[in-house]
This record gives sequence, structure tokens and C-alpha cells, in this order.
Amino acid sequence: MEEKKIVLTGDRPTGKLHIGHYFGSIQNRLKLQEQYETYILIADVQALTDNFNNPEKVRTAIKELAKDYLSCGIDPEKCTIYIQSMIPEIAELTVFFSNLVTVARLERNPTVKTEIAQKKELFGNNGESITYGFLGYPVSQAADIAVFNAELIPVGEDQLPMIEQTREIVRKFNSMYGDTLVEPEALVGKFPRIKGLDGNEKMGKSLGNAIFLSDSEEEIQKKVMGAVTDTSKIKKDDPANPEICMVGYYHKLFSNDSCKEVFAECRKGERGCVQCKKQLAKNIAEYLRPIREKRAYYDNNPEVIDKILIDGTNRARKKAKETMEKIKKNMRINYFVNE
Ligand code: TRP
Repeated sequence: MEEKKIVLTGDRPTGKLHIGHYFGSIQNRLKLQEQYETYILIADVQALTDNFNNPEKVRTAIKELAKDYLSCGIDPEKCTIYIQSMIPEIAELTVFFSNLVTVARLERNPTVKTEIAQKKELFGNNGESITYGFLGYPVSQAADIAVFNAELIPVGEDQLPMIEQTREIVRKFNSMYGDTLVEPEALVGKFPRIKGLDGNEKMGKSLGNAIFLSDSEEEIQKKVMGAVTDTSKIKKDDPANPEICMVGYYHKLFSNDSCKEVFAECRKGERGCVQCKKQLAKNIAEYLRPIREKRAYYDNNPEVIDKILIDGTNRARKKAKETMEKIKKNMRINYFVNE
């Protein structure tokens, strides 16, 4: 039997998932789990690199994230879901990898650069208070990937520099200590990026413009009522342009059957915004209903989540230990092991 390729993805546990994540990555993972051996990493160590002052937030988010995955249909029989800090081999490999990358190279990583510039409170106006841990998180991410010998890494474009850096480190490791690790490839899908309710190009939990997968019907309605519409429309029966309206934008995603009609009526001024928003909120709530219902099950049975995470972590650890033995042997640090 041909071995299945290993796919590895991960998220930083910093909050709940929203519909942007759903269309942007979860849907893709649902497909991948049918085809590949899939690892899903809850990257708490990485989350702590910029939330070290708020570990409680990370702790809470781990369970929320696991609930989000499972209620969307990520199947723990097909995917190994695990917690990064509970795989000490990742931390160990990070230390070995840190010898293979220069500080200058890390400082050039465009994603890290952008993030440092955004986190002035934590790292200073010009990044003068950058921590060793944050600057080095690409090294830790390389270890996340390499310790599982993952071959395919489905990511958004912002993560490409991380995969490139992983490839460089793996190549360097292999040329220095002999062929040991798999050089991974990024799997850049054409994942749509979902705009926020306020029209921002990005839906983000910190931007306050997101609909969470766990939002109640009431919360969804309240948020949709505040969505940005065509500002030229003043009165209920003014014609408007649904293409520049966030309600129109979401109708395209959630109201397949009625979308044409909605757009035509809007253009003719036959559709008030309040009615239009109510209809959209109903459609979104309906679309997310199965996810919400499954989530309620996990909310009521938290021990099921714990078991899935513990089992997944045990499975992942076993795999990481196997790679680590090989790594230590090739690095000549497998002291007192009979070869
Ligand atoms: N950096 C990723 C993000 O912010 C999360 C992540 C951590 C990751 N380790 C990974 C993604 C390994 C893919 C592979 O989204």
C-alpha cells in the first residue's frame, strides 16, 4: 500500500474561529483529511511569543479552537489534533535548528518584520524591545514541521516566508548531518479572503468586524444590522449598488438561491436595507446551524474534547520521538545508545 503523504497545519490559539477562517482554511482541511495523513497543531508555544503576558488567554483559546475544529467536521479519527507545548521534541529540535539560522536572516523574514511593526506596545516603536523568542518563532515553526517529516503545508500567502525558511533550515541540516529530514512544500490554495462587516479587506478577531462560528442567532443578527452598506442610499426605496455593500457581499456567500433577486431588487430600489439585513442574518444563522449544534454537544461534554486532545497529543508525540531518535543519531548526540 502506498503511504499517505503527511499534511501539517496549525493555528495559534488566541481566540475563536470566524467565518473568514471557515472559508479560508477549515473547508480546505475538511477536503485534505479525506486524502492525507493530517496533523493539526494547536500552536500554544508560538501564541505565547506575543502573548507571554496573557497565558490565560492562550489556555482558554486552546479548548475553543478544538471545539471549533470538531464542530466544523474535522474528524479526530482522520486527523491528529495536538498541543504544541506537550511535544517537548519540538522545543528540543528548535534548539538544534537555532544553530543553523543567522539572526540577520530572521530579521529579514517579511512576515516577522510586519508583525514586529504592528506590535509596538510589546516590542517598541522600532522593534527595539523585540524578544529572542518572537524573532525566533520561524525556527520553532520549522521544528513543528520537520519533527513530523510533514511534506505538504497548506497555508495562506502570509505564511510562505515561514515555509521557505523551514526549507532552508532542513537543507542545511541535511547537508551538515546527512539526509535526515523531509523538505516540505507549501500548498497555497486559492483560499478566498473574507472581508469584515465594516468593509475591511480582512476579517479579524482583533478588528471587531467578525462573525464567529460560535455566535448565537441574536449575535449574528446584531452584527449584520451594523454592516456597512452603500452610503449613497438614504431612503428605504432609493436604488443602490449591492456591489459596494457588505450585505450584498455576504449574500453572495450565504444566499445562493435568492442572491440574484436580492441584487436586482436592491438596484431598483425595491428593497430596504433593514429587511435585506434581516434576511441575510437568517441565512447566515441557518448556514452555521449545524456547526452551532455540534458545538453545543461539545460544550456539554467537555471531557470528550479533553480525550481527543490527549489521544492526538500521544499519537503525535510517538511520531516526533521517532524522528528525534534519528536526528540525534545523525547529529552524533545519541550518547549511550547502542547503535
Ligand atoms: N504561524 C501559523 C499562523 O500564525 C501557525 C503555525 C504554527 C503553523 N506552526 C505551524 C502553520 C506549522 C503551519 C505549520 O497561522
